[in-house]
Amino acid sequence: MDGLFGKPIVTQEAMRARIRELGRQITADYAQKDLIMIGILKGAYVFYADLARAIGLPLKVDFLVVSSYAGKARSSGKIRVLTELTEDIAGRDVLLVEDIVDSGCTVQHLRKALGARKPKSIKVCALLNKPGRRQVEVTVDYVGFNIPNKFLVGYGLDYRQNYRNLPYLAVLDKVDEEGEPV
Ligand code: IMP
Ligand code: MG
Repeated sequence: MDGLFGKPIVTQEAMRARIRELGRQITADYAQKDLIMIGILKGAYVFYADLARAIGLPLKVDFLVVSSYAGKARSSGKIRVLTELTEDIAGRDVLLVEDIVDSGCTVQHLRKALGARKPKSIKVCALLNKPGRRQVEVTVDYVGFNIPNKFLVGYGLDYRQNYRNLPYLAVLDKVDEEGEPV
């Protein structure tokens, strides 16, 4: 896939360094807690694996497959959770791990849905944050990088299920007049 995209918006070195920092911060914050990391698939799978290995604590892993697209490139606001957790989160300290927070609809939906299962705490860690696209207000407790309103692919992020395995983050710059990729 080399040559398909221009300069990475975040280099692999910068990404590695930032994930190490996030790992150190989370390690300090959760030292006395009962941490369970819930990865939001598919987009978070690459970041999740790197982040989990940067955390120096015992922890449990779990995942949810979430779809927010209904065929569109961007979130439709209708969030569908396609799978179930395998762990009981009651009384535990949940860290939701997202690839990117855009409109905020996914995080808002999951905070509410998981909150109903009575965890002790819920925090959100997102590799990327697009504050300029927010439609609903949500708290993102740990952010890797704040980025401008561009459509990104790679490092787990897709355009119509492609490019997730690109080892760096790149801008998909063929967009229509509404900013949607074409
Ligand atoms: P939200 O519900 O609008 O916050 O959207 C969250 C989801 O939309 C993310 O988990 C991504 O799967 C997807 N998304 C948002 N922006 C991008 C992007 O620039 N590239 C790829 N996927 C994106
Ligand atoms: Mg996606």
